[in-house]
Amino acid sequence: MLVADFAERILFADTLAGKLATPPGGFDALRDDERRDPIRHSEPGRPTELEIASRDERVKFPHPQNFGDPEMAVRALHAFANHELMALELMAWALLAYPDAPGAFRAGLLRLIADEQRHLRYYVDRIAQMGARFGDLPVNDHFWRCAPALTTPLKWVCAMNLTFEQANLDHAPYFAEHFRRVDDEKSAQILDKIFEDEIHHVGFGAHWLRKYCGPEKNSFETYVANLSFHNEPARGRGVDFDAEARRRAGLDDTFIEGMASSQ
Ligand SMILES: [Fe+2]
Ligand SMILES: [Fe+2]
Repeated sequence: MLVADFAERILFADTLAGKLATPPGGFDALRDDERRDPIRHSEPGRPTELEIASRDERVKFPHPQNFGDPEMAVRALHAFANHELMALELMAWALLAYPDAPGAFRAGLLRLIADEQRHLRYYVDRIAQMGARFGDLPVNDHFWRCAPALTTPLKWVCAMNLTFEQANLDHAPYFAEHFRRVDDEKSAQILDKIFEDEIHHVGFGAHWLRKYCGPEKNSFETYVANLSFHNEPARGRGVDFDAEARRRAGLDDTFIEGMASSQ
């Protein structure tokens, strides 16, 4: 199967199983030797229960102090599952939007998709263990809103890896701690695993930021210059700033200092 066909399949799947499907013969069997014209799709296909909800239907993210209430815990896990779904769709989207990107970039995106599918499965299973179903609550289009502005692979890594995923380096341990506080070790462990993978995902962004900006340019300034109007550096961090996680991801000191002083 062609990478582009697989990406389309993921992007437009109208079942959850379709979003989680691996390519026939596995990821290594995909071919990327036929590239198509670039296309930046404006929205994903979705199962009915996961169609993007209007603003007035949405539920508020619970305060983590309330994670001991199973209904609130499910609400949080549901929001996290939606982030994983949007991440994997936007990765498939990027394969269709940037056919001329280097082969290593596209191969890297496929590895990220496999990880995001695994993350989504963790949450879907955990929500089911708690007696609910992914799709029971309305979902927002948080990541999708910025898609039209992502006109280059550099802008894509700045939004996806270096803002949404970078923020998770602070958010994942924070929420893990709150699940542990109420003895929900299973949910906490999901966040621990995702944190470790996220270091690699931010690392993918750090690598391509450096490639695209060149060795001399200031990495943080290049990042800021390539953010769309929906985003700002402050969205790429949490309240507790984990500089060590960013160093592990391969971000340089200039970038980390720039992030640390963004509020
Ligand atoms: Fe993820
Ligand atoms: Fe990720």
